[in-house]
Amino acid sequence: MANTAELTVDGKSYSFPTLEGTEHEKAFDISNLRDQTGYVTLDRGYKNTGATKSAITFLDGEQGILQYRGYAIEDLAAKASFLEVAYLLIYGELPTKDQYAQFENSIRRHTLVNEDMRKIFDGFPVKAHPMGVLASLVSAMSAFYSDLEGSSGEDKTDLHIIRLLAKLPTIATWSYKRSQGHPINYPKNSLDYIPNFLNMMFSLPVEDYKIDPVVVEALNVLLILHADHEQNCSTSTVRLVGSSQANIYSSISAGISALWGPLHGGANQEVIEMLENIKADGGDVAKYVDMAKNAKTTGFRLFGFGHRVYKNFDPRAKIIKKAADDVLTKLGINDPVLEIAKGLEEAALHDEYFVSRKLYPNVDFYSGIIYRALGIPTNMFTVMFAIGRLPGWIAQWKEMREQKEPIGRPRQIYTGPTLREFVSLENR
Ligand code: CMC
Repeated sequence: MANTAELTVDGKSYSFPTLEGTEHEKAFDISNLRDQTGYVTLDRGYKNTGATKSAITFLDGEQGILQYRGYAIEDLAAKASFLEVAYLLIYGELPTKDQYAQFENSIRRHTLVNEDMRKIFDGFPVKAHPMGVLASLVSAMSAFYSDLEGSSGEDKTDLHIIRLLAKLPTIATWSYKRSQGHPINYPKNSLDYIPNFLNMMFSLPVEDYKIDPVVVEALNVLLILHADHEQNCSTSTVRLVGSSQANIYSSISAGISALWGPLHGGANQEVIEMLENIKADGGDVAKYVDMAKNAKTTGFRLFGFGHRVYKNFDPRAKIIKKAADDVLTKLGINDPVLEIAKGLEEAALHDEYFVSRKLYPNVDFYSGIIYRALGIPTNMFTVMFAIGRLPGWIAQWKEMREQKEPIGRPRQIYTGPTLREFVSLENR
């Protein structure tokens, strides 16, 4: 017999069904709570609230497990290409060779961005943060690619998915090019996804850019590790915006804005800036560990540490830490901030404050060190995260639409003034 949860309130008893996911995660189904009891729940930050049922990504924070559609992140990072993983997330299965060829080829043929989008881009100040520009331009795509339904009413979602995957890297490189005072590069459809991105970033009209397979491989791993992470802040944003039936471009644009925050994807930029500050300050990691321990008075947090769900270790951080060592060795780079990062991790992992709060390095702690080694500037780090997370946002948006989820609309506990009489301006 299925379990039920009993609730007694105001002298009455109610029972609610329980649910169990395929990986044995347990939940109370309180969909009818308010109808039955008149009560709502309060769960600030949604620490205990499942907003949806999802078949895309599973993570177990206690055991440090992350799986996309049932495949271990370690396997995917070692054996798959980013576009294979994108297909897996969006369509639920690994593509066959034919499906992959078709998917990859469609993306290749949609990399060019409408020239009028450049006029919008030109209106941004040179110093604009690339994340703000990215969110705006993705939102603007809804105006340029507004054929959300075909002439005979057929669903064009797949075409928009291809457009987003194809054009996001193109748009992302514009900000970098302009920050350097260099001309913007067009995509080259003879190149694969990651080489094409690198070529748009780094090639110049005056000299060819030699694509280094070490760099391509490192980016492939990083993008896969970032590709989805179930109902995190930006993904929940994408689903919430999409639940009002807003189009996919507006929904993803909202996700990009959510990702930008320093507590979420923006942490990768903060980490490198923090490590640089520690280095400039003499490299005394203990001093910064102490500052973080007194966050309530110093206001300082160790960026790249802690996670809402992982309470043991972040499996992505484990892969990235090793990748950082490998990439720096292969590229012959000696980055002193890598040593500072390792020292900081070591100090924190042996400190009671961090141990008791289960604070471990997260995905953002070492990723910036790799991006830097690949020549990607600090203010582009979160953009790299967005390129990686795009397939996850798309998959989650698509699932939300296919499950015909109702519009997202949380409740609140009102704590403001009760009804009072209006006093006209002259009497105030
Ligand atoms: N440095 C110092 N103390 C911390 C940190 C940190 N990075 N993270 C959490 N704590 C402390 C916090 O002060 C609190 O202590 P107390 O119980 O004494 O008040 C306790 O640990 C629990 O923290 P919380 O803020 O309630 O935990 P949360 O689940 O709400 O926040 C987090 C999770 C990721 C926002 C937080 O750990 C954080 O701000 N980390 C730094 C930013 C960061 O690296 N973000 C990237 C997250 S992973 C990738 C992604 O999501 O994009």
